[in-house]
Amino acid sequence: MSYYQVKNFEEYFKHYNKSIREPRKFWDKIADENFTWYQQWDKVLEFDMQEADFKWFSGAKVNIVKNCIDRHLAKRGNKTAIIFEPNNPDEEAQHITYTQLYERVSKMANVLREQGIKKGDRVCIYLPMIPELAVVVLACARIGAIHSVVFAGFSASAVAARIIDCGCKMVITSDGGYRGNKTIDLKGIVDEALKTCPTVEKVLVAKRTNADIKMQEGRDQWLQPLLDEAVANNVAEIMDAEDPLFILYTSGSTGKPKGMLHTTAGYMVYTAYTFKNIFAYEENDVYWCTADIGWITGHSYILYGPLLNGATTVIFEGIPSYPDFGRFWEVIDKHKVTQFYTAPTAIRSLAKEDWKWVDKHDLTSLKVIGSVGEPINEEAWHWYNDHVGKKKSPIVDTWWQTETGGIMISPLPFVTPTKPTYATLPLPGIQPVLMDELRNEIEGNQVVGSLCIKFPWPGMARTIWGDHQRFKETYFSAYPGKYFTGDGALRDEVGYYRITGRVDDVVIVSGHNLGTAPIEDAINEHPSVAESAIVGFPHDVKGNALYGFIILKEAGAWRNQDNLVKEINEHISSHIGPIAKLDKIQFVSGLPKTRSGKIMRRILRKIAEGDFSNFGDTSTLLNPEIVEEIKNGKV
Ligand code: PRX
Repeated sequence: MSYYQVKNFEEYFKHYNKSIREPRKFWDKIADENFTWYQQWDKVLEFDMQEADFKWFSGAKVNIVKNCIDRHLAKRGNKTAIIFEPNNPDEEAQHITYTQLYERVSKMANVLREQGIKKGDRVCIYLPMIPELAVVVLACARIGAIHSVVFAGFSASAVAARIIDCGCKMVITSDGGYRGNKTIDLKGIVDEALKTCPTVEKVLVAKRTNADIKMQEGRDQWLQPLLDEAVANNVAEIMDAEDPLFILYTSGSTGKPKGMLHTTAGYMVYTAYTFKNIFAYEENDVYWCTADIGWITGHSYILYGPLLNGATTVIFEGIPSYPDFGRFWEVIDKHKVTQFYTAPTAIRSLAKEDWKWVDKHDLTSLKVIGSVGEPINEEAWHWYNDHVGKKKSPIVDTWWQTETGGIMISPLPFVTPTKPTYATLPLPGIQPVLMDELRNEIEGNQVVGSLCIKFPWPGMARTIWGDHQRFKETYFSAYPGKYFTGDGALRDEVGYYRITGRVDDVVIVSGHNLGTAPIEDAINEHPSVAESAIVGFPHDVKGNALYGFIILKEAGAWRNQDNLVKEINEHISSHIGPIAKLDKIQFVSGLPKTRSGKIMRRILRKIAEGDFSNFGDTSTLLNPEIVEEIKNGKV
């Protein structure tokens, strides 16, 4: 492995400038020096921004899992690839070596093939954070099946919508999952979801909780007996560079979730390169990312990025508060973790507790600590820096998205001086720009604008599954010739970026990216509801929480409002998942609308934030009087 690792700040600028002058040469070298290819590429990059058409390394042939596992076997066969830390600290941790991972993935790959899964088939994975989740993901990629991991906190109808959208042939789940002192009936949720999913032929079930579940004859099979029969080696599928690797759903500001499609070679090159540089990874490090594999962070920085580098990666099944608020720190101490990567919401929730929970554990193994998923506020940044990093392990505040595949803007540890709340500078190879309302690029520093990226990078999503038009419209039409991130940002006097938050109707709650439109759709299905509008408002722990303004139908107006609040939240829970529940609900008689019928969310946002100071011009509203009513009724 010979990625260029930048050694100091001066070198960063030299390296960065070179990467911008000759991007193809830059990526060509990285791809050439760090992976095993069956066949090299003809062209590094071909693209058309207008059409949102991108091809990286075309002509190349490769298998990402061979790069994650097989090529390490000679040197690292006995090295631990995965440390599994169970939910219950009394259950023994598992250390899975690269050789054992090879055998487990090979068996799983053989099972999938025997069960009729072929290259290009979609497989839905709905599993808790257990080693089988990693094994199944890698087995799919090994045989060229497209994995669609659905976070095991989503409800049956959210699972069904994702299965139907990409036509999955198979679902892999478990008899249940542990989360703190709760168990979750994952198989029951899958059974419910599958009532509306005709494309699913088979369900494979891993054992975890030994819950008493129903198995449907002819459709469902226990995974373990199939694995017991399978042989422990497997010939990997030879994939084209642009063959699909996985689909991962993310919320949009309108309509149904977007199945972001990532392809093989570019994603491989990008996750490996970013992992190595951003976490300053060295051979004997133990790296831990606390995300769930059901999100992009888990895909790129629990599985692919670390394994491509032959690293040891921790998979943690539990939650930060179980059995007590010291769990994260206990695990760092127990496994001598060197890089720790978590979300601001977790930091904020732990910072509320007594710091004796941190200080009673030995964290001296840590070298680099990271943050991802939402802006990290100054207070949380300092707490993290003081108590966890002990002011010696740099914080990498990493900005990126499901769509970008990997980290885009982040300090490089020991190279980029950090600054609280700033993601700082783009990685070599990445070209961010800020745009004004007239779609002009804003030059210079100390400026604010919409964050776009003006040149392709290998990790970018290639399309939205089944809807390329939506891909083009969402990301490549607001600022022609550029990728629009949906985020606003400022650039300070030295050129550091600070992400200020979404500029569209997506709200980030506890690091989860929630579109307001699908939540409104779910609420509007409630028989008592006529119309609704959701906005985000600042929340101490979650970053943002959701505030719903709801107009009731006449019949609904007679109902007990406390019961309605409960019902509406249960409805959201069962249609989307508990993460999308509203913190506050206010029943209103109308919503502020423009003459064209568009809800003025800006006003609702201000009311939800409790800021009644300046609503701006309300004269263009169809019903300006409603603002006063909503203001007075704020909950
Ligand atoms: O608004 C940005 C925020 O999370 C969004 C992407 O969410 P998702 O696709 O779910 O991916 C999350 C994990 C990469 C972004 O558009 N975001 C992510 N990281 C940061 C951030 N906002 C501020 N600072 C960050 N470090």
